[in-house]
Amino acid sequence: MSSSNKRGIRSSWCWRRWIDSDQTEIWSGRLQAMAGSAWTLTGLSQRTRLLAAVYVESRSAALALQRQLGGQVRPVKAADWISRGPSVPLRIGGKFEIVHESAPAIRRHSLPRLRIPHGVAFGSGEHTTTALLLRALARRTLEGCRVLDLGTGSGILALAARLLGASKIVGIDFDPDAVRTARQNERLNFRAPLIRWLCADIRRWRSGIRHHVVLANLFSSVLVEAAPRIAASVAPGGSLWLSGILRNQEREVTAAYRRRGLVLARSARRGKWVVLQWDKRIRKSPAV
Ligand SMILES: C[S@@+](CC[C@H](N)C(=O)[O-])C[C@H]1O[C@@H](n2cnc3c(N)ncnc32)[C@H](O)[C@@H]1O
Repeated sequence: MSSSNKRGIRSSWCWRRWIDSDQTEIWSGRLQAMAGSAWTLTGLSQRTRLLAAVYVESRSAALALQRQLGGQVRPVKAADWISRGPSVPLRIGGKFEIVHESAPAIRRHSLPRLRIPHGVAFGSGEHTTTALLLRALARRTLEGCRVLDLGTGSGILALAARLLGASKIVGIDFDPDAVRTARQNERLNFRAPLIRWLCADIRRWRSGIRHHVVLANLFSSVLVEAAPRIAASVAPGGSLWLSGILRNQEREVTAAYRRRGLVLARSARRGKWVVLQWDKRIRKSPAV
């Protein structure tokens, strides 16, 4: 059973259980096989346990997971999707901060703000895989850039790109709820729409134009399968940031993008997660 709240976000059910952090790889594979993209593993860096969660639309689906995996099942109320947020604003590289939607849009002497109705999984910018990309974005100038956000979720990365001056931005997700939420979040933060929000599966979609910056916070399996399309969407001289990669998946992802002629410029690790930054070199035309 699922229902919609005022903002059109569906309420759902959540299965969850605590796991030991040394079993992260086993659980990531298991959850990915059983739940596609709807799972999260979250934990504080100093803790030895992580909370595994899967979000589904029906109680019976949640109970089926419980029968197989143990753990607990609970309804996720619409209010959970929109009202939880960090108690303090999240500061990104001294450039901007992410605050709960109930906070005022501008405060005197404060950094520019993105107001986000925080969701249960990805959305608020707090997840390590998102935070690594937000910080990478804040380190560079985006004035006049074309930016592509693959697997946009709440739209947080696309919105950050807009705040940082990107001139053309496209955000894509195959979940219509995510696309709707992202569009609402743009409306919440900016007077006029600028970002193009698309509902599409990245594994089948083809980019018409090339982008100076491409961001993809996705599971490694999607990053590998869609590597030809993702690599083709980067403009010569542009860069591609890949996140959502577990350490044990780094080699496979790296091989897939090297084969596409991209050059690994930088990698960052936090906990079990890896972010890879790739550059697409400008081909010099042969001297005549
Ligand atoms: C890990 S979340 C990232 C959300 C946001 N970009 C962030 O960094 O917080 C991944 C998002 O990618 C979407 N996604 C997963 N596989 C996809 C695919 N094949 N095509 C399009 N979107 C996909 C999911 O619906 C989800 O919203």
